[in-house]
Amino acid sequence: MLARLRITQAPLILVLLATAGCAETAYRYMNDPARDEWQQPKAVVEALKIAPGSRVADLGAGGGYFTWYLADAVGPQGKVYAADIEEVGLRMVREEAGRRGLHQVETVRSTATDAKLLEPVELIFLCNTYHHLRDRPAYFRALAGSLTPAGRIAIIDYKPSGLPWLFGHATSEETVRTEMESAGYHLVEAPDFLPKQHFLIFRPALPRGP
Ligand SMILES: C[S@@+](CC[C@H](N)C(=O)[O-])C[C@H]1O[C@@H](n2cnc3c(N)ncnc32)[C@H](O)[C@@H]1O
Repeated sequence: MLARLRITQAPLILVLLATAGCAETAYRYMNDPARDEWQQPKAVVEALKIAPGSRVADLGAGGGYFTWYLADAVGPQGKVYAADIEEVGLRMVREEAGRRGLHQVETVRSTATDAKLLEPVELIFLCNTYHHLRDRPAYFRALAGSLTPAGRIAIIDYKPSGLPWLFGHATSEETVRTEMESAGYHLVEAPDFLPKQHFLIFRPALPRGP
């Protein structure tokens, strides 16, 4: 019952915690294993078919909910850049990576307009981050420079219904597709097993030059 309450009221609780300046509590809340029931992190990362040794960015990593699944997929020879504009979550990620002995995880302090990734990556993954970004067509047009030639961008965001929509923490699939197309990407896959979110995978429409 408590888990169900936590899940259904999640956006409201997160907004209240963030407004009250309780970022660490908000990130711990996002990392609650009760979330696994609907977020299905293992199935999400499996659907991404990440090759061992890949370089991946978890953009808007928060408290690292997906970082550990991505780190497992890339393995010790790969790299996960956990990028966020908030230092609180990045500190939590560094501490947890240390506890888990995961040397493939590195934190990156982004700015609102620049992910600041340290090298091009095969995959940029965003979960519940898309709706936070400003001027998204310009943002993703610039982000193409942080992808390898065969690189992909995977976006998971809340569908426009219920509390996420009410609090502006959602985008329609149509909006994401239109904005990404105007940024120079095309949709290559749309896994549809998540109950509350859409899950869209894009590639640059035109291959980048040498
Ligand atoms: C709702 S949280 C999602 C965290 C994590 N991806 C998850 O699924 O638990 C959104 C995160 O995006 C971050 N964020 C917002 N704007 C950003 C930007 N321009 N660049 C990087 N991160 C950003 C926020 O600081 C926050 O940690």
